[in-house]
Amino acid sequence: MSFRLQPTPPSRPNRCQLFGPASNTKLPPKMAASAADVINIDLEDSVAPSDKDSARKLAIEAIGDIDWGNKTLSVRINGLDTPYWYRDVVDLLEQASDRLDQIMIPKVGCAEDLYAVDALVTAIEAAKGRSKRIAFEVIIESAAGIAHVEQIAAATPRLAAMSLGAADFAASMGMQTTGIGGTQENYYMLQDGQKHWSDPWHWAQTAIVAACRTHGVLPVDGPFGDFSDDEGFRAQARRSATLGMVGKWAIHPKQIALSNEVFTPSEDAVREAREILAAMEQAKANGEGATVYKGRLVDIASIKQAEVIVRQSEMIADR
Ligand code: COA
Ligand code: MG
Repeated sequence: MSFRLQPTPPSRPNRCQLFGPASNTKLPPKMAASAADVINIDLEDSVAPSDKDSARKLAIEAIGDIDWGNKTLSVRINGLDTPYWYRDVVDLLEQASDRLDQIMIPKVGCAEDLYAVDALVTAIEAAKGRSKRIAFEVIIESAAGIAHVEQIAAATPRLAAMSLGAADFAASMGMQTTGIGGTQENYYMLQDGQKHWSDPWHWAQTAIVAACRTHGVLPVDGPFGDFSDDEGFRAQARRSATLGMVGKWAIHPKQIALSNEVFTPSEDAVREAREILAAMEQAKANGEGATVYKGRLVDIASIKQAEVIVRQSEMIADR
């Protein structure tokens, strides 16, 4: 480890973030009753421009009126290039109950975007005497966002989580696809006449994970648009989990169980991690830094890998 230690991200489950447009009044009670760890009430792209004012009022009512249990409650505001975002922040911070945990800022392109929102939020919190400090989460979904991802991750101590938004990201990058995440038909390698599909989201995901881990922020995979494709969702989510992401969005309730399944370490994985820790305890007692577990090398780095899995499973169990 560097002399500068890696900060710990917020210690709360973030396996699934369930989205729903604030304008749909049927959804909040269903979202609250769901098994998602995080709820995102949306004021942005699932709300028509003509509904922005009424959606904001409905979001504020839902925050106060519904029992959200122990979920992390977040509202996605409109982007800083719109005429809506300042009113979103002002009304939420002035009028929403203290149950609100977080606001999500979409299409962030530079650290200064967060500086601007932080200044406004800080002033309103002070003016209104809000006791609970609102956290931020952001979506990386533009060329500028990914180019400046580390500055964004470091922008403010309010930042708790960062998601990859595949659809807007693809559009901003000029990618030739209308799919939201997952396998892209034309992104393949050819070997002996056989196609082998590759993952066009991989590099953006790893850039996000590295920026997040450097600055103590939770890295999250965004939406998977085809909610009738369970196996496609699982495959995307498993790749994200393997790369270090802690969860994924659900844009339909049927994706919640899939996300929870993938981002909860399996019993087998936890058992193996505990066995590795025990093997290393034994090695330490014998004055060794490395030993053999099931025919393979484990050493002091293996302790840290195993601890990631055990910590994650304990945090989820504590919930
Ligand atoms: N949260 C909670 N419940 C939801 C839900 C959500 N996001 N989306 C649908 N449901 C409920 C429906 O109300 C319905 O409930 P019922 O059985 O009690 O009637 C049930 O789940 C089945 O819904 P279904 O008929 O399959 O879908 P739909 O046509 O009602 O809605 C969408 C489909 C995609 C429009 C809707 O899921 C949605 O709005 N998703 C979120 C979109 C969003 O927020 N996008 C921004 C982030 S990318
Ligand atoms: Mg988007």
